[in-house]
Parts: sequence; structure tokens; C-alpha cells
Amino acid sequence: MTDIFQKRLERHRDEMRWLYMELYDNGDMYGELEQRCREFYMERSSGLKALDQSREQDSDWYKKNDMLGMMLYIDNFAGNLKGVQDKLDYLEKSNVNYVHLMPFLDTAEGKSDGGYAVRDFRKVQEKLGTMEDLENLTKACHKRKMSVCCDFVMNHTSEDHDWARRARGGDGEYMSRYFFYDSDVIPRQYEQTVPQVFPATAPGNFTWVEEAGHYVMTTFYPYQWDLNYQNPRVFNEMMYNFLYLANRGIDIIRIDAVPYIWKELGTNCRNLPQVHTIIRLMRIISEIVCPGVLLLGEVVMEPARVVPYFGTVEKPECHMLYNVTTMATTWHTVATRDVKLLRQQLDIVNSLPKEYVFLNYLRCHDDIGWGLDYDTLARDGMGEVPHKKYLNDYFLGTVGNSNSRGELYNYDPVTQDARFCGTTASLCGVEKAGFEGDAEGMEQAIRLDLMLHAYMFMQSGIPILYSGDEIGQVNDYGYKEDRNKREDSRYLHRGAMNWENVRKVKDSRSVEARIYSGLQRLEELRKAHPAFASHANAWTVETHDQGILCLGRCHGGEKILGIFNFSEEAGTAWIDEADGKYMDLLTGKDREAKDVKLPGYGFCWLRRKSGK
Ligand code: GLC
Repeated sequence: MTDIFQKRLERHRDEMRWLYMELYDNGDMYGELEQRCREFYMERSSGLKALDQSREQDSDWYKKNDMLGMMLYIDNFAGNLKGVQDKLDYLEKSNVNYVHLMPFLDTAEGKSDGGYAVRDFRKVQEKLGTMEDLENLTKACHKRKMSVCCDFVMNHTSEDHDWARRARGGDGEYMSRYFFYDSDVIPRQYEQTVPQVFPATAPGNFTWVEEAGHYVMTTFYPYQWDLNYQNPRVFNEMMYNFLYLANRGIDIIRIDAVPYIWKELGTNCRNLPQVHTIIRLMRIISEIVCPGVLLLGEVVMEPARVVPYFGTVEKPECHMLYNVTTMATTWHTVATRDVKLLRQQLDIVNSLPKEYVFLNYLRCHDDIGWGLDYDTLARDGMGEVPHKKYLNDYFLGTVGNSNSRGELYNYDPVTQDARFCGTTASLCGVEKAGFEGDAEGMEQAIRLDLMLHAYMFMQSGIPILYSGDEIGQVNDYGYKEDRNKREDSRYLHRGAMNWENVRKVKDSRSVEARIYSGLQRLEELRKAHPAFASHANAWTVETHDQGILCLGRCHGGEKILGIFNFSEEAGTAWIDEADGKYMDLLTGKDREAKDVKLPGYGFCWLRRKSGK
């Protein structure tokens, strides 16, 4: 039994030990880590071990064209974990085979940051169920060939975590697991070089802890205490927590806020080299104990900072990363009707090694930050500050022929910077048209919503929907009534799933049905055609129309072109692919891949019929 473990360990031991000693120079703690890895391997169920082995043999299992993810808050979606299990039919019918369960570990009410302030890494929030419920759910998902993703919030703990409580009581052993300072001298030095994550809702990077008579580092909210990874005890214990979750049947570990996990005075405390050492160590540990488990890095940074988190092909770090710049650039394109920057961004992504897998999305539980390539925009006369303002005004619905509805996030009066919140449907105009009873506006909004999904499904990687977007759910303003949520506008797009509206899917004229069935059709086509696989060859094509994007994909002898009109005006993609006959995948009719006319916000997927 332990043979397999031993083999894997031997394959990685030199590098693992080397990296560990480089960081900590502590042989005893390294020895403990190896020993505990062995124990977690022994404890891992035979079912999960079998899954590990099959995934080791088919290491491209998550790169196939049938992958579709959905992220959901358990309580909003179905009350609790058992409720989610009861809804697996719905998820399956919606073609979802990857479920991201948003943070569900124990957290303090009112100080939870949507669950990202964990009080106990081994306990499920009482209202959501138990660890046993989680294991039952992961087993039920595996039976249906669905994977389960969960967050691993490793940058910080809640101020109510056992370690934090002991530290607050003055226990030095536990204080050393965080960053404590008895005066503001060092905190002030840090503040000179460290930017702010929540400038409006949680300014500063330190919090005064009265009981301890010390400042503690809090990069995010004051109740989220940053862990000190210079302490090997912190690293080891957090790895054990990670393996504990993996052994509950979690397939994908989303490492929250990766770039922040190592701090160094005099730096911006982002993306430091030690972060990469830690993630590489984590990857090695997973390959030794649970190689079926994937690491998904949450790296919300400028493009040049994101890709290094894949590591190298020989020494990989994360298996998957969010395609965050493409997401932000997509909304820029919606607001400007100009595909130039998006095309450039997609060309960059398409030129990366095919081993790299991105998670593609239109929006998630967080805000949309305007992390665009401002050097390119500057060459076209667009300054960063005025352009961000334009984008925010556009999505607020106040300028530029916009039908969007949403709210600003963390407006910083000093830099005038702000990010943005809203559901996909609301940003596309569904909310406004519904409110105004504007049938024509609704038509246009649905077209934009479906076009954006069709385009997103054509990117390389795994598409992820936010629960509710599949039925065009709009913003939920109810968070303003909740004292624990009203300061955080991200709750605008985290509303509860409206099952009443899901029932409307049966009425083909309803907005819900049109979006749901529109997406279903696209998802099924995507599953049926190998050219959509993540590692397909992908490129962009010049259309000679500012508002129209054309993407090409080729794999398994199949070639597909996707043409997407980001403008509400009809237009023509002036392309001329003279390499064979094409068929429109949605209508089943023959269509030439030449001078393709599209209605406003229209799109088509064309498949080459002949020739290889
Ligand atoms: C990540 C999460 C976000 C949370 C933050 C702090 O960015 O996506 O929701 O506020 O980490 O944990």
C-alpha cells in the first residue's frame, strides 16, 4: 500500500527537501512534514486513491471540452450541504461537472468576509451541515463524474481562530504565527510600500488589538489576521489542513489570495519569490499524497504577474489560474465596442503553453477590477484614470448608450479608483429592460448575454458560471438591509438562487428559458466538438470591423470559427477563410466563412465541413 506513496515521495524528495530547507532550514520540521504526509496518504480512502491513479494515468482529464464549472454559495443555492446534494440533478441537467462550493468552513457571524475568515479549518459552518455531509456530497458528485472545488484560505485566519485567540492572550508561540508589533514603528514602515486591498471598507494593513496591546497585520479586513509563513509551524499546519480537505473528497483546491502569502518589509508584499516556493511545495505535496487533486490559484494581478503561478512545464505550481485580465478586458470591450485590446489579450493567452489551463468567466463572487493593459490604451489616447471612470460610469448606466445596472466597489476618493459589481444579466441590460417593461431592450440584453457566454465558451480552458447566471438572475439589492453586508457591495451579485424563476424555464418565452436554453444549446455543442478542448490550437482572426471579434480553434481534425459582434449595430466580419465549406453549428445550415453578417450582439459558431 505504502509502495505507491514511497515511489512518489522518492520521485520528489530531493526537490521537496531542498525547497523546504531553503525556506526554513529546519530538518526536524521537514521530517514531521514527511511523516504527516504519509499519515494523510494512509488515511485517504481507497475510492480517492483509485481516482488519484486514474487521473495520474489521464493527466489531461480536466482539459477536455466537456468541462463546465459553476460556483455557488451553499446557503444561497440550497440551504445546506444536503440541499446541494438534492439539487445535483439540476446541476447535471445544466451540464455542470465541476462545482465550486464557496467558503463553507466555520466562521464568525458578522466577521466572515463571505466565509473568507476561517475560524476552524476542520469544521463546517453549523448552518450548512457537517464534515460527514461534505464527504457524502463529494461521493455523490464523484458518482456523477462531477468534481468539487473548495476554497483554501491560507493567507489569514479569522481573529476568532484558536491560534488568534491564544495569540491575543499573549502566548508567544501563537503570536509568532502572525505579525505582531508592540508599536506602530514597523507597521508604519510597511504602510509606505504596501498598497491597500480594501481602501474604503478596510483601510490600512494593520489593526490595533487592545487585549494584546499590539498591532497585528491585517491585509484584508481587520478580523482577518495574516499568517506568518516565515514560521515553519504555520506552513506545516496549513499543509495538514489542506490534506485534510483533500481527504474529504475535494478535487480542486482554490488557493485564496495566493500572491499575498509571504511578507517582507520594504516590499509591496505581493508575488515575492517565496510565494512560488510555497506553491511549488504544495504542488509536490499534492502529487505525493493526492495527485488527483488540482490546485487553482486565485491570482488577481496584472497579466505579467499571473502566468508565473503556473510555474514551468518541468516544475509546475498551480494547475489552473483565473483568466482575470481577459475577463476585465471583455467588459471593457462591451463598454467601448472596440475589440482591439481584447484581441491583443487573447493573442497573449493563446501563445502560452497548452499545459496551462485557465478558468474563464464573465464574473465571479468578487468585484470586477479594471486591470487592463493601460500602456496599449495610452497609445490610443485613453488615460488610466479617465478610462476607469468611463467604465464605471458605463456600467452604472449613466454614459455611452448603456443599459447596465450595478454598483461601484471600494471607491477610493484619493486615487478616484473603484472596481465594479453586478450580475452578468444586470450588466447586459436584463434588469433595466425588465424593470422598464421594454421588450426590445430585453431582446437586446438577452442577445448580449448569450453572445458573451458563447464567446467565453470558446476561450481555451474551463468555463465557469456563477450560479444564477444560467437563468439571467439580476442584482439583489437586499444586502443593503443586512447590517453585516451593507458596506460590501459584492453582495449585490451574490443573491440567493431564485427557484421560482428556475421553474419559468419551462415557459419558452420567459427570459429565464431563453437564457437557460440558449446556454444549454451552446454547452451541448461545446461538449460534442473536440475543437473546444482546452489544449486545442487557438488564434484570433482580423475582421476589419472594430466591434467584431473572430476566434479560431483547431483540434482532433476539427476547425471551428467563432464570430462575435460586441456592438448593438449589425455588422460584417470581413473574413475570407477559403479552406473549405463551413456549417453554422447553431442552425445546422451551410454558411460560407466569408463576409459574415451578424445582427447587433449576434454571434455564430462555424465548423469547417471538409478538408483537414
Ligand atoms: C479573495 C476572495 C475574496 C476575499 C479575499 C480575502 O480575494 O475571492 O472574496 O475577500 O480573498 O480572503
